[in-house]
Amino acid sequence: MAKAKTQFICSNCGFNSARYLGRCPNCGEWGTFVEEKIQPDNANRKARVGMDGKSAKVEAINSVSLEETPKVATGLQELNRVLGGGVVAGTLILIGGDPGIGKSTLLLQVSGQLSKHGKVLYVTGEESASQVKIRADRLQVGGDDFYLYPETDMGAIKEQVAQLKPDYLIIDSVQTMQEPDLTSPIGSVAQIREVTADLMQIAKTNNISIFIVGHVTKGGVIAGPKILEHMVDTVLYFEGDQHYQYRILRAVKNRFGATNELGIFEMRDQGLHEVANPSEIFLEERLSGATGSAIVAALEGSRPILVELQALVTPSVFGNAQRTATGLDRNRVSLIMAVLEKRTQLLLQNQDAYLKAAGGVKLDEPAIDLAVAVAIASSYQNKGTRPDDVFIGEIGLTGEIRSVADLASRLKEAAKLGFARAIVPKNNLQGMTLPKGLRVLGVATLKEALELALSGD
Ligand SMILES: Nc1ncnc2c1ncn2[C@@H]1O[C@H](COP(=O)(O)OP(=O)(O)OP(=O)(O)O)[C@@H](O)[C@H]1O
Ligand SMILES: [Mg+2]
Repeated sequence: MAKAKTQFICSNCGFNSARYLGRCPNCGEWGTFVEEKIQPDNANRKARVGMDGKSAKVEAINSVSLEETPKVATGLQELNRVLGGGVVAGTLILIGGDPGIGKSTLLLQVSGQLSKHGKVLYVTGEESASQVKIRADRLQVGGDDFYLYPETDMGAIKEQVAQLKPDYLIIDSVQTMQEPDLTSPIGSVAQIREVTADLMQIAKTNNISIFIVGHVTKGGVIAGPKILEHMVDTVLYFEGDQHYQYRILRAVKNRFGATNELGIFEMRDQGLHEVANPSEIFLEERLSGATGSAIVAALEGSRPILVELQALVTPSVFGNAQRTATGLDRNRVSLIMAVLEKRTQLLLQNQDAYLKAAGGVKLDEPAIDLAVAVAIASSYQNKGTRPDDVFIGEIGLTGEIRSVADLASRLKEAAKLGFARAIVPKNNLQGMTLPKGLRVLGVATLKEALELALSGD
């Protein structure tokens, strides 16, 4: 038998090299090369099939027939939203997330839902069948068409799939699966790539929808080559703060729907519960009329969420003023403070500022600027904001309030939750129909906005 050769693969982009390289010439990342053993006959090991499982043919675009891709809606509305309506047959869905965030819990609940629509095979490479069963009992998940299979060998898994003919396959997790004829260690780039290619073939040839769990690295990206994300149809991230019970499911790639859609869940003893009205939760513990608090209608995907932003501004004791931000971008906070100082004459340079988005959410869109500025000014001047005000707007460097995306749905959400006034960019208001019960005030500058917000009437 010919001797296995060695090659080096960039774990970021999958670029191959015969020798170790410090910097990848393809993607420019440093220190990403890992050593891999390759079998001499690796290249022509298997023939790949087309996306529909048959060998492909050339067709004129005008004569391509449109096939409806029906989506199976699960009983979890939040998941349906993130997937763009439901699960499309024959697709590969990758779910990444931190250890212990609840990936297996989510997929077990999803499996329970899907087993009402078809046969589900749950392959677990990390836990024994009885461990999964204990969790399933706790989550009250079960069903006649729901099968567990503790296995890591792809050969055996393929055999079982051929025999059982499931409609849905769950792989928990891709890093624990292995190709028997590949000598690279489990979890290595070559293994992950081959396993995923195999799963893709299973999905497309048998029209099975496959959910794959992927571990994430310390940096928060899915471990293994970036090409893993390119190969699959949909990439979801399951995020959350260990200190809060809320979990957020986010689509970062979706071939069958919009990305950046959010699904919000709450982790309880009996598993993940859907949160239909996230704004109510994020506003729940708010003190009315407190200083340093401002409500923003942020937009996550197509979904408006009202969140309380809090600021605490205190004189600095030591020379250097501190700026700390939780759930917000610290550079953005510094920039807003500089604009406040220069354009509204608030002397903030010798003040420490601590900012926080309540409830553990992370916000990073520009439309939250105005609420950040109002919270800072309110705390600094020790003047309370009105509890029924909501602030929306991006701040420019000259102190102007710039228009934001989809103001209408933000205002609708604010009106729904009983807010009385919305302070918004003036430019956004042209030709807009405003929701009933909400006074919408357009402002052109930060100064005008602060006068309205902190006038106390
Ligand atoms: N008995 C229990 N009651 C309430 N919550 C529990 C219980 N057991 C586990 N949990 C919750 O479930 C979480 C673990 O969920 P799960 O195993 O689904 O995570 P995971 O993302 O699959 O983790 P891993 O990366 O280790 O596979 C725990 O962090 C905890 O919050
Ligand atoms: Mg798990």
